Amino acid sequence: MPLALWPVAQTSAQYQRAGRYLPECAQHPAKMLPELARRIIGEYSAEGGLVVDPMAGIATTVAEAALLGRRAIGVEVEARWAALAEANLDQLLDPGRRHLAEVRVGDARRLTDVAGDLTGTVDLVCTSPPYACDVGNMDKAKWGAGGDLCPTAARNYSTDKDNLGHARGAAYEQAMAEVYAGCYRLLRLGGILVTVTKHSRRGGRTLDLAGLTVDLAQQAGFAYLGHVVALHAAIRDSRLVARPSFWQTTQTRKARARGEPAHLVVHEDCLAFRRPEVTNGH
Ligand SMILES: C[S@@+](CC[C@H](N)C(=O)[O-])C[C@H]1O[C@@H](n2cnc3c(N)ncnc32)[C@H](O)[C@@H]1O
Repeated sequence: MPLALWPVAQTSAQYQRAGRYLPECAQHPAKMLPELARRIIGEYSAEGGLVVDPMAGIATTVAEAALLGRRAIGVEVEARWAALAEANLDQLLDPGRRHLAEVRVGDARRLTDVAGDLTGTVDLVCTSPPYACDVGNMDKAKWGAGGDLCPTAARNYSTDKDNLGHARGAAYEQAMAEVYAGCYRLLRLGGILVTVTKHSRRGGRTLDLAGLTVDLAQQAGFAYLGHVVALHAAIRDSRLVARPSFWQTTQTRKARARGEPAHLVVHEDCLAFRRPEVTNGH
């Protein structure tokens, strides 16, 4: 399979958002790097095209697509993230581009309900699902004072069980199969799906989310185009400088203290697929 490498973290996530995105976006625990969103949209869609993100969060992909002259529509299950996404679009897009972008509240497993009007018309689906592992916002001050680093209520985006941040194992696979089948229906013939995943560790084992995602997308009818490694490290002369989160650093240290030879995972997997030009029974 073709393999490419994109360094998307020459500057930090905070720096990439500073002065552009609303400061409240820091509340969302798993945002895409703006540089990665721009790179995917620039490589896999043309100006004037239609881009959709069925799991839009605070609308990084939607905003960057509109800034690059695409029409962009996001779907997000949580009304509070969708509201923040719309506020972000107000902030990021000048009045001449604001009409290009919108975020709808809905469930990515049932895309026809919320985006049926787009069936067969989308040029690019650019998305990043929950990674079937715990995510959360950390309260370092509380943790420093002996409290929980990430309280249960602040994990997995919210306590809402419709949020796939809570899905694990077979439930996650079933849900993501429904999401990719819906993406397939929205795309025009020849349209592209790019989905960004990351390997996680649980109980000393790695979850090969990229491999699982390739299987799920192919079962939905997609043809696999290739794999891009998005490098979350800065290249400084001949050195790579990792940009791990505090959570990653503490988890990796704990694993090493248990005797597991764990390393920081400093990349995400961007997986590209095409809806075939001829219908193949899907
Ligand atoms: C990895 S984040 C994507 C973040 C986004 N790329 C950004 O930069 O803000 C995954 C998002 O999927 C949303 N989500 C989870 N389950 C969903 C569902 N059933 N339907 C739609 N969105 C969902 C979560 O609330 C979260 O905002």
